[in-house]
Amino acid sequence: MLKKIIIGTTSISLLVGCSSFEKWSVETPVLISTPHPAKSTELTNLSYDKERLEIFLKKEEDGTVVDGDSVTEEKPPQAEGPITPSEQHEEEAIPVVANPTAINVMVNKFWALPEGYRPPDLIRPNVPFSFGNENSDRAKLREEAAQSLEMMFAGALNDSLELYARSGFRSYETQVAIFQNEIATFGYEQAVLYVARPGTSEHQTGLTMDITAKSVKLELVESFENTPEGKWLAENAHHYGFILRYPKGKTNITGYAFEPWHFRYVGVEIATEIYNNGLTLEEYMDDVREF
Ligand code: DAL
Ligand code: ZN
Repeated sequence: MLKKIIIGTTSISLLVGCSSFEKWSVETPVLISTPHPAKSTELTNLSYDKERLEIFLKKEEDGTVVDGDSVTEEKPPQAEGPITPSEQHEEEAIPVVANPTAINVMVNKFWALPEGYRPPDLIRPNVPFSFGNENSDRAKLREEAAQSLEMMFAGALNDSLELYARSGFRSYETQVAIFQNEIATFGYEQAVLYVARPGTSEHQTGLTMDITAKSVKLELVESFENTPEGKWLAENAHHYGFILRYPKGKTNITGYAFEPWHFRYVGVEIATEIYNNGLTLEEYMDDVREF
């Protein structure tokens, strides 16, 4: 059920064709300002239990895809092969956020980034990467998030834990490649549970990093949750302004499966409130829609 609607002016159908959303037709504004006016201040300070494997090992410089976020160990029956006509889904536009550069911008299955959005201040944080010294988009974050990531990695190292960054900024085009690959491999239902539709990925904000460790062979797998590094991140990321964006048991709110590696920068103040109260970003923003 739709729990809360922000401001209703124009009635549109959201994400028709995406099975998770087919039933939704909601009152949604054509945005002319931030969708979350009460929480829009830009801060200046700094059940799915299967083990997961990754398949996106092609390098950006190959002109193909970069490391993706997701995939499951067990492929669903419809896995593999090209996208068939029955798997093609027409997507309707969803509202676009008016504050894409805000540190607290909320991008999800109901709010997209402006077409072609690319953050203005992407830099490469000085942290270890799973792919070494490659200086590609996926190594980058927005400046404030990059600086905080460096501090977070240093904090972990201080506790003798070595973190590795694996997937940061992704352009719209990169997300297209990842999304299409996921659909072709696992089918649409599975794809939308793990990979954001192009234009709706937090990775495109430049405020998100997927983080891993040698304890899980530098992969993005659900068992990261139970490693010392995964536990440390879950308990300490908020001190550095990051939140575990897709927590376990919150798929009905986030729309995504549990991702213990996906950390989103929102600033220390918001991250701490979210952590202390066990919230998702949607709950913090008071914009919850149940799936
Ligand atoms: N895996 C997250 C949802 C993304 O693709 O952005
Ligand atoms: Zn991610």
